[in-house]
Amino acid sequence: MARVFVAGSINMDVVATAVRHPRVGETVAGEAVHYFPGGKGANQAVAAAKLGAPTTLIGRLGADAFGQQLRTFLAAQGIDLSSVKETVGTHTGTAIITVAAADNTIVVVPGANALLTAADVATPVLAEGDIAVSQFEIALPAIEAFFKRARAAGATTILNPAPAQAFGPDLLGLVDILVLNETELGFLANTAFEADDPAARFIEAARHLQTDPERIICITLGKRGVLALIGSEISTIAGRKVKAIDTTGAGDCFVGALAAQLAGGRPIRDALDYANAAASICVQRMGAAPSMPTAAEVAAALRR
Ligand code: RIB
Repeated sequence: MARVFVAGSINMDVVATAVRHPRVGETVAGEAVHYFPGGKGANQAVAAAKLGAPTTLIGRLGADAFGQQLRTFLAAQGIDLSSVKETVGTHTGTAIITVAAADNTIVVVPGANALLTAADVATPVLAEGDIAVSQFEIALPAIEAFFKRARAAGATTILNPAPAQAFGPDLLGLVDILVLNETELGFLANTAFEADDPAARFIEAARHLQTDPERIICITLGKRGVLALIGSEISTIAGRKVKAIDTTGAGDCFVGALAAQLAGGRPIRDALDYANAAASICVQRMGAAPSMPTAAEVAAALRR
């Protein structure tokens, strides 16, 4: 089996649950506070590793208690952490999250994640068939350097441009598979979507990002499932009916599961179906990294 390499953020998620989100200027009483391992890069690496792919994470932690706890947790998931550096003089990335009625708001303070450099991604050795994954909680030059190395080695690159920010054609040109939700697609295509927009509207926006006809664009639509533009063909994967408790990390679960499936040589449509099932399990649990499913759980969901 090929390897999955994830260059990305590692955060401690400080999660408060409440009956509803406060309005600006308002205080509401919370119900509980949790400390969950998170960060988009770490979540994606945990998903890939739990689903059976040999996985390497490239990232930075602060030299503090959160950093130590996260390293212990990630090592216990079987992830290769030889490219996760401890950085003196800054704190471990921290996300302040409010969860109410299964929806979240997140403020991320990047800390050490912001200091990941192109030199950091230069050490791991990628091979043909490997899968290189990244997202936007680390600096764009590091992602570009990582994807250049991945392409030179014959690996497939997956970019999850989250949280959304503008990026140039040089980085887009290095992407084989783009995975984004409707908010990120709306930002990049300079349009706004409604929850019940027809699939054709999303696909029309996705075509603007398919500057290379080989590039696959996957749009994750939560309850509505997934739309994918594969060459000129459109694939629709129906949403799974589940009771969501906390959607934090569901997109990361999808990306990590997709990467693991592709590393295992699965065809893209099967891999998307599998990733959709994995994400439907993730939303039924609290927390990001700890709610990633095992391969047995995804297999059971697919049989149902
Ligand atoms: O995608 C979910 C993640 O976003 C959380 O784990 C949080 O750390 C933020 O980075």
